[in-house]
Amino acid sequence: MINKMGLENDILRVLLTEEQIQAKVKELGERISRDYAGKNPLLVCILRGAVPFYADLCKHIDDYMEMDFMAVSSYEDGMTSHGIVRIKKDLDVSIENRHVLIVEDIMDSGNTLNHLTRLLGTRNPASLRIVCLLDKPERRTCEITPDYFGFIVPDEFVVGYGLDYADAYRNLPYIGVLKKGVYSNED
Ligand code: PRP
Repeated sequence: MINKMGLENDILRVLLTEEQIQAKVKELGERISRDYAGKNPLLVCILRGAVPFYADLCKHIDDYMEMDFMAVSSYEDGMTSHGIVRIKKDLDVSIENRHVLIVEDIMDSGNTLNHLTRLLGTRNPASLRIVCLLDKPERRTCEITPDYFGFIVPDEFVVGYGLDYADAYRNLPYIGVLKKGVYSNED
């Protein structure tokens, strides 16, 4: 059970400190600025987990850029995901002939981004790439890799800096491993 009074007590160990995250986001922002110089890219934030990463990353894009937002959810049938995503909120702008960069907090199975890139690819963008702060390749079930990533993480339950369990922990400034007792009966 989530103890909202003791957010920090629910964390088994810190995986990535605030300083490590901020240094990496700056590095990614500088690289993206160079790669997209003069292209006025559209950075697409996938709500809600990507919000802290997106906000910090955009501050390090040192050129003209535009923002837009999408919200998606997986179609689920009991415990299994079909790997199809439902669009809960679509983009507000056309991406035809635009340089589009999808910004995500984590690539796990890859289902969400696999489906999303197929969908956005049909809208004739000039280019379409993905930046994920975290990559969890051990969990991949489809052939997709982020064009830019910050850190490879082990297959553990990670929360913080946008990543949640039952919608909590997104506001932690660092990324940590959640104690098992929070989400199961084990300690
Ligand atoms: C998380 C994350 C990605 C997706 C990655 O979103 O933000 O969108 O899961 O998993 P996948 O690679 O297995 O598809 P989530 O559905 O938890 O929603 P949230 O962003 O609102 O937390």
